Amino acid sequence: MTNMHSRKQCLEYLNKIDMPRHIRRHSMLVAKVALFLGELLNRNGSNLDLGLIQTGALLHDVGKEPTLATGQDHAEVGAEMLAGMVSPSVARIVREHILLDSTQIVGPITESILVNYSDKRVMHEQVVSVQARYHDLIARYAKTPLHRERLLEKLKLYLALEEKIFSPLAIEPQGPEIMGLKLNNSEGAGPEHD
Ligand SMILES: [Fe+2]
Repeated sequence: MTNMHSRKQCLEYLNKIDMPRHIRRHSMLVAKVALFLGELLNRNGSNLDLGLIQTGALLHDVGKEPTLATGQDHAEVGAEMLAGMVSPSVARIVREHILLDSTQIVGPITESILVNYSDKRVMHEQVVSVQARYHDLIARYAKTPLHRERLLEKLKLYLALEEKIFSPLAIEPQGPEIMGLKLNNSEGAGPEHD
């Protein structure tokens, strides 16, 4: 399969690689959040490619399961898995979805940054605040005080990004419009159609 771009093609690919249902559902909810924000931003002056956002979000964690046992970087491996099957901009979204530095916050809001942020709003299969997602990460993974500090620094960056994303919008980051986004029980069970 070359140049996957439709929702159907992405979901078929997730099925083909046997992505576990919970990761598939996580990805589908990230796509829902990212598209919701992308549409709102576009109505408020942005010019984001919603198709790119959807594809990047649905595919962002393809490297997750294959790297669970190896400890490799799942974002890097995911981008490699997709090489030749997606456009370079989709591969970049996958590769970058765990990276954020302060220079990106002063730059424009891109499709990649929006998928990255939306991923931090979805814990397992539920929309949560960035704070809740990070406090869960810290509780589960921070092995040392230094690691905890680093994660808290990252949280600060995501909160600065959040402020920027929401500043042109009439909704709050934890308003009901976004906190209420969810999947139906049947979504992510298998291949679906557009
Ligand atoms: Fe991920």
